[in-house]
Amino acid sequence: MKNGLPLAIDVVEAPASKIDAVDFENLVFGNVFTDHMMMCDYEDGEWQTPRIQPYGPIQLEPSAKVFHYGQAIFEGMKAFKDDEDQVWLFRPEANIDRFNRSSVRLAIPEFPKEVFLEGLETLLNLDRDWIKQGFGSSLYIRPFVIATEPGVSASPSKNYKFMIICSPAKAYYSGEVRVVFAEQFSRAANGGVGFAKAAGNYGAQFYPTNLAKQEGFQQIVWTDASTHEYLEEAGTMNIFFRVGDKLLTAPISDRILDGITRKSVIALAEEFKVPVEVRRVTVKEIVEAAEKGELKEMFGAGTAATINPIKGFGYQGKRYELPEQENSYASFFKTKLMEIQYNKAEDKFGWRY
Ligand code: COI
Repeated sequence: MKNGLPLAIDVVEAPASKIDAVDFENLVFGNVFTDHMMMCDYEDGEWQTPRIQPYGPIQLEPSAKVFHYGQAIFEGMKAFKDDEDQVWLFRPEANIDRFNRSSVRLAIPEFPKEVFLEGLETLLNLDRDWIKQGFGSSLYIRPFVIATEPGVSASPSKNYKFMIICSPAKAYYSGEVRVVFAEQFSRAANGGVGFAKAAGNYGAQFYPTNLAKQEGFQQIVWTDASTHEYLEEAGTMNIFFRVGDKLLTAPISDRILDGITRKSVIALAEEFKVPVEVRRVTVKEIVEAAEKGELKEMFGAGTAATINPIKGFGYQGKRYELPEQENSYASFFKTKLMEIQYNKAEDKFGWRY
């Protein structure tokens, strides 16, 4: 990237498309990838010419720092197709800003926003047939950066690889979701990397989540590491509670991801006059609300999961089931969000791109 100006993107098209082999009706989240990927290397202190090339394996030295020190961050974005075959991204600049905030925390050089967007647009134009119409169908976009410098000294890499890969998607969860409130393990600590989409934030959840799965819970709702008294974030989603008619969610902090779906739900709640409180939410108040029948709903919000109702939760060995809601906030907000994402409603907030 000479003088800070983006260089033209080198494009090598795939000789043939793999699309005919894909069963779009039965997609398992994140298992199938489109024909092309974007790549850009950081060498000699600058990002080099970005490339788009056929999706396929890459070669790395076994000593590449990403394998040893986990210097890696990622994002999750989605593209949607409307009834006129136009393709829309949802608040992509918010993802790119967060991508770069994550990079800064992991001592990774920031990636230029214009090149990110230009590369992504070129990639989506090449792979646009992979984006299917209809509520619930989307293209999940996974940008990431990894540290590629060979060598096992524990210091930031001098070289990086930025990539974007894309996967046609339907639902993230295939069945009902129940969660357990964390009593022992923690996801994030003050001053740590919880706010960043650091690869290791997710890998570190696998073991406790496996234990939760053995008990019949799909996700853990992480509580604050020091007291385990406050509910913070569900494994791959931010979390909302509906007590009576009020919607509650934790404020973002250095432990909690600044979720784009989360802040979109808060904005929609304000628009539609749903009382929303962004404040610390205690385990105690939610357990008490459940016991009194005042806890009407819980739902997760995230790019991959969109808005996912939570059917029940576990805490201190007890299980709580939530009642079916006729006028569910989860389905209201999911519909409002999708109407904007699929270009079926006015975009008052300027979220479509
Ligand atoms: C997303 O919602 O995009 C996420 O980052 C979740 C992912 C770990 C599947």
